Amino acid sequence: MKKTARRDYSTLRSSAWFSGDDRWGVGHRAWLRAEGFSERVFQQKPVIGICNSWSELNNCNAHLRQVAEAVKRGVWAAGGFPLEFPTISLGEMLMKPTTMLYRNLMAMDVEECITSYPLDGVVLLAGCDKTTPAQLMGAASADIPAIMVTGGPMLRGMWRGQELGSGTDVRRLWEEVRAGRLSEEAWCEVESCVSRSAGHCTVMGTASTMACVAEALGMMLPGSADIPASDSRRLMIAEKSGARIVEMVYEDLRPSRIMTRQALENAIRVDMAIGGSTNAIVHLVAIAGRLGLDLPLGKFDELSRSTPVVANVRPSGRYLMEDFSYAGGIAALMKEILPLLHSKAVTVTGKSVAENLAQAATFNREVIKGLDEPLRPEGGTVILAGNLAPNGAVIKQSAISPHFAKHKGRAVVFENNFDLIKRIDDDKLDVDESSILVLKGAGPKGAPGMPEWGHLPIPRKLLKAGVRDVVRLSDARISGTSYGTMVVHIAPESAVGGPLAIVKDGDWIELDVPGRRLELKISQAETKKRLKAWKPAEPHYVRGYGRLFLDHILQADEGCDFDFLKAANGPERVAPPVKFKNPGI
Ligand code: FES
Repeated sequence: MKKTARRDYSTLRSSAWFSGDDRWGVGHRAWLRAEGFSERVFQQKPVIGICNSWSELNNCNAHLRQVAEAVKRGVWAAGGFPLEFPTISLGEMLMKPTTMLYRNLMAMDVEECITSYPLDGVVLLAGCDKTTPAQLMGAASADIPAIMVTGGPMLRGMWRGQELGSGTDVRRLWEEVRAGRLSEEAWCEVESCVSRSAGHCTVMGTASTMACVAEALGMMLPGSADIPASDSRRLMIAEKSGARIVEMVYEDLRPSRIMTRQALENAIRVDMAIGGSTNAIVHLVAIAGRLGLDLPLGKFDELSRSTPVVANVRPSGRYLMEDFSYAGGIAALMKEILPLLHSKAVTVTGKSVAENLAQAATFNREVIKGLDEPLRPEGGTVILAGNLAPNGAVIKQSAISPHFAKHKGRAVVFENNFDLIKRIDDDKLDVDESSILVLKGAGPKGAPGMPEWGHLPIPRKLLKAGVRDVVRLSDARISGTSYGTMVVHIAPESAVGGPLAIVKDGDWIELDVPGRRLELKISQAETKKRLKAWKPAEPHYVRGYGRLFLDHILQADEGCDFDFLKAANGPERVAPPVKFKNPGI
């Protein structure tokens, strides 16, 4: 990396607020001294914001106040002045209808807080699924030096001697309850045994995936994404990140210098190698959009074809995040696939990916495989195209039933989620194990917010007959903890008149994962006739944030960001040292 001259304090943003003895300099310092700070903190110290998505409504991030205290230690020790601030927090389990409805709102909150306050650098504290991409998107747009610390995964669930992974195993056991094979008592025990500590979900779901992706993007200190939340090394890494951001400010090492096209490709490679969540695709496209970089879905498929899955972690593999961490974690995995990565890409350390990984090693070959003996020969996620998904669709091939990789079946259509809930367990539902379940109205505008409804439940009558997977299609997303044969992110979505909107019961649909195809087997004339007769539903919102969302949300293949937040030519809202005198006090 080309060294840049160490910046002088007078060039930092915060000096525009805190230097000088005029009314404004005194005013800014005096008001902040209401918090009990002495004059020493204003002596040419870079101001470091700690952007905290802590919330008791978001259990995955509920320990981040403690993490923030460790960050502050590091900032003080390195000669900075830390100031913690909150943003909205998106708790995956409690927030309805879906956190994805609010990812962009959080990203805006993060960007606006960073740019409007006297901050020279920022430490981003994230954890639960959407909090990580929202902070990366906001930081990319604000473009002042930034480093991320995620909260880490929970300890593995333990129940009657079985290890339980969040989401993945709860779904599996719920199907046993519905099939009448697991008692209510046992089900109650599961509730108290699955979440044993602070932290995010324990499998390679979206939170773990996005933490690994953030590290692969170069935005976290190496080896930090996978450390369990309750491990003391999590606080050590937070302290080190606090110290490092002070140096990054003097080096002017901004997100736009780290999250380059090469870094995005590294992140895609890592996502494929860990068998990561399908959600990472939407988030990476959105992050790229904030940086003015085009990231077509074709790039994901191209890199997927040449990136094997090497992480043996649920839902694509056998182990849990805790095991992954003890086996060497994300640093070891990146070292295993280093020949596939842009090894010279710059990271928050100021060093390259290859330099960061010099000491990394794999300690358990069962959990982290090598390129010569991977878990699967191709990446976890692939992109489908065809007349049913003209702008693409996504399937996690590492989690499907192998016999469905090539499959032709008749559609059983649900017009929306309410229709699905009403009829899915009806014994009269005309469905068998070769049917293809189709859910409409679950995309960015249709649901709205593109919830994780793509994991359609298996009809009870099939469950009772022992069926554990059927092919499912939708314009929704799925949780990163999901497993089974589910095509999601179909674009354009049904609510805007995509071909999914015209599928009818009994239509033949053909899925060909190796051939990357998804086809509705009706004639062109019939397609035209049905499209002509199609009418959009009434919008879900007429006012407020919901209205803003519906007016500006982009489709899944474009990252589901708001159209006005994309940058045309690199970050447009670079926050330079602000030279102003605020007349507002
Ligand atoms: Fe927050 Fe799974 S619910 S990471």
